[in-house]
Amino acid sequence: MTPLDLAIVVPVFNERGNVPLLVAALDAALASIAWEAIFVDDDSPDGTADVARAIARHDPRIRVIQRIGRRGLSSACIEGMCATAAPLVAVIDGDLQHDETLLPRMAAALTADPALDLVIGSRFVAGGGTGAWDADRVAKSALATRLSRRVLKADLSDPMSGFFMIRGEVVRRVVPRLSGIGFKILLDILTAAPQPLKFVELPYVFRTRAVGESKLDHVVALEYLIALYDRMFGRVVPVRFVMFSAIGAAGAIVHLAALGLLLELGAGFIAATIVATVAAMTFNFFLNNHLTYRDRRLRGPRALLDGWVSFCAVCSVGAVANVGVAAFLYDVRGGAWALPALAGIAVGAVWNFALSSRFTWG
Ligand code: GDD
Ligand code: MN
Repeated sequence: MTPLDLAIVVPVFNERGNVPLLVAALDAALASIAWEAIFVDDDSPDGTADVARAIARHDPRIRVIQRIGRRGLSSACIEGMCATAAPLVAVIDGDLQHDETLLPRMAAALTADPALDLVIGSRFVAGGGTGAWDADRVAKSALATRLSRRVLKADLSDPMSGFFMIRGEVVRRVVPRLSGIGFKILLDILTAAPQPLKFVELPYVFRTRAVGESKLDHVVALEYLIALYDRMFGRVVPVRFVMFSAIGAAGAIVHLAALGLLLELGAGFIAATIVATVAAMTFNFFLNNHLTYRDRRLRGPRALLDGWVSFCAVCSVGAVANVGVAAFLYDVRGGAWALPALAGIAVGAVWNFALSSRFTWG
């Protein structure tokens, strides 16, 4: 048996048509290397994991991790990278947009220079390219790259690249510091390392996707900003709390709008307040489920109902705490209402956040 040289981690979500194509492409590209491929699937509805397992039964180089109840490209890559004994670990998209024929040269570069930590596939060095991207995507990618420079001290051309090869020992060193949020695993690794990592960039041309659909959407764009925030300030105020609070503020507007509307329609104040409160809590529950806790999202009528009930229960106690703290401070300070009100809101928000993260999305 030749010793295992290289693990190729392939994050996949709804890529059943691409899995066999990628295995064949890897087989052709990696003739002289002992490799394994680890498909990390997030329980894709299209049965991607079944397709990968069917291949794995005949080919021991193929492995499958099926994560159930979790979503996220970066966290899937981290999980795959930690699941191998190979000294070198590559990450490559499962949709054949990255150029697998670059892998042997990436491995050769790491073997030739023991001081090198990783090799990055770049679309923006001479010989690379973004293929058939429209002007809109080029502009968005350029903006994301510019933003990344605020957290990145290293000078590299393509920090947005999701195609790279790294030493397993380097991965294990940085994993405890990774945020695992969103799409940008490479940026996460580069900014997490305590000392700057030594890297080289090799050019490749980003191919157009032939089979399946991209998962990049507006929420992924938002997650990118969240990941940057997390890197810059996450240790001071956790990113989930910031999102939770922002959504809470939007909920207050929903509350006021509903209350105003109901009063306008002739409802009594108590009844209108109850309805407005439930409307605001419901709004907050769904938005938090969709954004703040996207990686642990509750799905299906049963889970959603249970989650909604527990969220409303938590928030009701939070509201009592809010009123209690505000009333107490108002008594003590006499007259000035803004500070007691804000203190009440802050205590309520922290309570709601702490308890709902434990009981609703725990
Ligand atoms: N396990 C898992 N979980 N895999 C996912 C998820 C997820 O939540 N979301 C996406 N993937 C997989 C896809 O199935 C695909 O194999 C790969 O991750 C890339 O996703 P795409 O949806 O095809 O992304 P893209 O083509 O827009 O973005 C790629 O290009 C960027 C360069 O602009 C990604 O590779 C980025 O990492 C890369 O930087
Ligand atoms: Mn893609």
